[in-house]
Amino acid sequence: MKEKLSKIRLEALEQIASPDANLEEIKIKYLGKKGELTAVLRGMGALTAEERPVVGQLANEVRESIETALAEKMKELQAKALDARLTAEKLDVTMPGSPAPVGHIHPLTRAQRELEDIFIGMGFSIAEGPEVELDYYNFQALNIPENHPARDTQDTFYITDNILLRSQTSPVQVRVMEQTKPPIRIISPGRVYRSDALDATHSPLFHQLEGLVIDKGITMGDLKGTLEVFAKKMFGEETKIRFRPHHFPFTEPSAEVDVSCFVCGVKGCRLCKGEGWIEILGAGMVHPFVLSNCGIDPEEYSGFAFGLGIERITMARYGIDDIRLFYENDERFLEQF
Ligand code: PHE
Repeated sequence: MKEKLSKIRLEALEQIASPDANLEEIKIKYLGKKGELTAVLRGMGALTAEERPVVGQLANEVRESIETALAEKMKELQAKALDARLTAEKLDVTMPGSPAPVGHIHPLTRAQRELEDIFIGMGFSIAEGPEVELDYYNFQALNIPENHPARDTQDTFYITDNILLRSQTSPVQVRVMEQTKPPIRIISPGRVYRSDALDATHSPLFHQLEGLVIDKGITMGDLKGTLEVFAKKMFGEETKIRFRPHHFPFTEPSAEVDVSCFVCGVKGCRLCKGEGWIEILGAGMVHPFVLSNCGIDPEEYSGFAFGLGIERITMARYGIDDIRLFYENDERFLEQF
C-alpha cells in the first residue's frame, strides 16, 4: 500500500507539472470520490492496527502534496493568463491619437456676434422675438395694413391667414415697445423668411439685425451718429456712410444707408460693382403711428430704427458672391473663415 501511495503521488505530481495539464481532471482522478487515493483509503480496513496509522499518515501527506501542487499550478496558470492578456491589450499612451476634426464658428454666427458686441458696446441690449409671428406684429402694427403694396415685397410663408413666418425683425420693435417704457435701446438679431426662390442673392431664409432707440428728443442726428460709429467699427476707421432717401411704412423719414467701399475707397471696384458704395441697411425715424400703436406718445417720445441683413454684410465684407454658400455647409467654403 505504501508503494501504491508513493506511485500515486509521483504520477499525480508529474501530471500536474506537465505544460498541458488539465487540473480539474487530475483533481477528480486522484482526489475525487471515485479517485485513486480515495480507493486506497477505503482499502485501509484490511490493514493491521500498527500499519493503519502509518499508512493513514502517508495517505494524508500524499493528499496534501497533491492539493498543494494543484493550487500552485492553478496560481501559475492564472498569472500566465493575466500576463498574456496584459501583453495582448497593451496600450501605448505615448502614441499619437487619431485626430478628431474640430469645427469652428459659422461665418454668419461670427458676424452676428461681432455685430452684437459692437452694439452692446454702445449700450444696446439684445431682445428676441418669435419667428412664427402674428400678421399684426409683422405688418399691421408697422403701418402695413392689408393690401398695402409693401406686403408684395415681403411675401412670406403663412401658417394661417393670421400667422406667418416673420419677413423681417421689425415686429420685435413692436413687441418691445408694447412691453417696455422708454428709454429703449435694443438690437434684435434673428432669422427671417420670405417666399423668394433661392438664387445667388436671395434665400427664403436669411438673417437680420434690428435696432431700435426710443427716448425723449431722439433725432436723425442720433441715428447717423450711431450708424457711423457702427460702420467704422465693422468695416474700418476710414469708412464713411451715406443716406439715400427711401420709403418704409414704419419709419418717417426713411433712408437706405450705404458704406463707402472698404476695398477701393470710393473709386469703384468689383466688390462695389463700380459704385464706390455698398448698401448695408434700411433705417429711419420711427413713424408716429407705430409709436401710438404701441402705447407710446409720439408727442413726448421719438426714436429711430434700423434693420440690416447679416448675410449681406458678411458677403460684402469677405467678397462672397453667392448667398447659397452660407447654407450648403461645404467645408471647403466654411474652413476659410
Ligand atoms: N425691416 C426693413 C426690411 O426688412 C428694414 C428696416 C428696419 C427699415 C428698421 C427701417 C427700419 O427691409
